[in-house]
Amino acid sequence: MLKARESIRHLKEYHPPLGQRRGLRLDFNENTGHCSPRVLKRLRTLDGETLARYPERAALDPLVANQLGVSSEELLLTNGTDEAIHLVCETYLDPRDEVLIVVPTFAMFEIYAAATGATVVTLPAGENFEFPLASVLARISDRTRLIAIANPNNPTGAFVPIADLRQLVAAAPGAAVLVDEAYFEFSRETIAPQWHSLPNLFVSRTFSKAYGLAGLRIGVLMGHAEQMPMLRRASSPYNLNSVALACLPEALADQAYVRDYVAQVLDGRLGLESELAAWGVRFWPSHANFLLLHLGEKAPAFVQHMRERRILVRDRSSDYGCRGAVRITLGTYEHNQQLFKALRQVLARLGFLEQGQR
Ligand SMILES: Cc1ncc(COP(=O)(O)O)c(C=O)c1O
Repeated sequence: MLKARESIRHLKEYHPPLGQRRGLRLDFNENTGHCSPRVLKRLRTLDGETLARYPERAALDPLVANQLGVSSEELLLTNGTDEAIHLVCETYLDPRDEVLIVVPTFAMFEIYAAATGATVVTLPAGENFEFPLASVLARISDRTRLIAIANPNNPTGAFVPIADLRQLVAAAPGAAVLVDEAYFEFSRETIAPQWHSLPNLFVSRTFSKAYGLAGLRIGVLMGHAEQMPMLRRASSPYNLNSVALACLPEALADQAYVRDYVAQVLDGRLGLESELAAWGVRFWPSHANFLLLHLGEKAPAFVQHMRERRILVRDRSSDYGCRGAVRITLGTYEHNQQLFKALRQVLARLGFLEQGQR
C-alpha cells in the first residue's frame, strides 16, 4: 500500500475552526471589515485575458521593494506568510536538523518544519510569555538550522526587543532565523533590513491583516540578496495568482486606508484593555490586533455566551501555557463597539460584576 512519508504520517493536524460559523469573526486575527475600496475597484476591472495568462510575479518586485525600503533582490512575494514559512523550511532543513521554536506560537512553524523530517525543539516562553532569550541561546547547537519567531507573537501579542533578536541571529550564523512580522503594522517595530550585517536573518510580512486581503493570499519574504535566489528556486514561479497581482499595487497605494484601519484597531485595543482592567479580568498586553485574556475555568462558557451574541472569539486553552485563555481580535470602530457591548453582558453573566463595580 502507498504510504506517505513518515514525517507526514506523524504530523500534528491543524484544524482552524472554519465551516458553519455565523457572527462577527473575532477569532482569526483577520481584518474585521474589508480591504481598501481601491482594491475592489481594480478587482471589478479584471478581464478574461488577464485570467487566461500565467501570472508575472517579478513585475511587481520593484514596487513592493520600494514600499518596504529594500531592493528587489532582497524579497520574494509569497502565497501568504504560510508559504514564506514553508519555503524557508524547504530551503534549509534536512531530516537530521533541529528547529527551535518558543511556545506558545503560530502553529504553522512546527507543521512545516516537522514535515521536512527535521526535529522540532519547543522551548517554553518565560513568565508572562516573555521570550526566553537565555534558554534559546543555550539550546543552539551545530544541528540548529532554523529558529522561527513571530514578532509580535500569536496568540500572546508579546514582542521580543529587536536588540534581543539581533543577539540571537548573531549567535546562530549556521541557522536561518525567520522573524515573522505578520502584525508589523500594529507594532511598527521591525528588524528589517538588518540582514545586511546578519545574512542568516529572514523577515516575513503579510497583506492578510492590516490590508484586509487574507482571501487573496499575499505575503512577502525578505532576506539577504545572496540567500534569496535559493528561496526562489524552491518556490513556484506562479505562486501568486493574477488576481492578487493585479490588486496588490492598489493595496500598496492606499496607505491612508491602512493607517485608518490600524488606528481603529489600536483604539479598540486600548478600550478593551481598560474595559478588562475595570472588570478585574487578567490580560497580557499586546502589540498586535488582538488581545489574550485569562478567564480560567470560565473560558468555555465565555466563548459560548459570546457566540450566542454572534461574536466569535477563540479559546486558546490547548496552546502551551494558555489554559483558560481566550484570544479576541480587534477591528473597526463599529465592530469594537459591538464587542464591548456583548463583553459587558457576558462578563456580568459570568459573575465578574462585583469585581467590575469595585
Ligand atoms: C504569526 C502569524 N504568521 C502568519 C500568519 C498567516 O499569515 P498569512 O495569511 O499571510 O499566511 C498568521 C495568521 O494568523 C500569524 O498569526
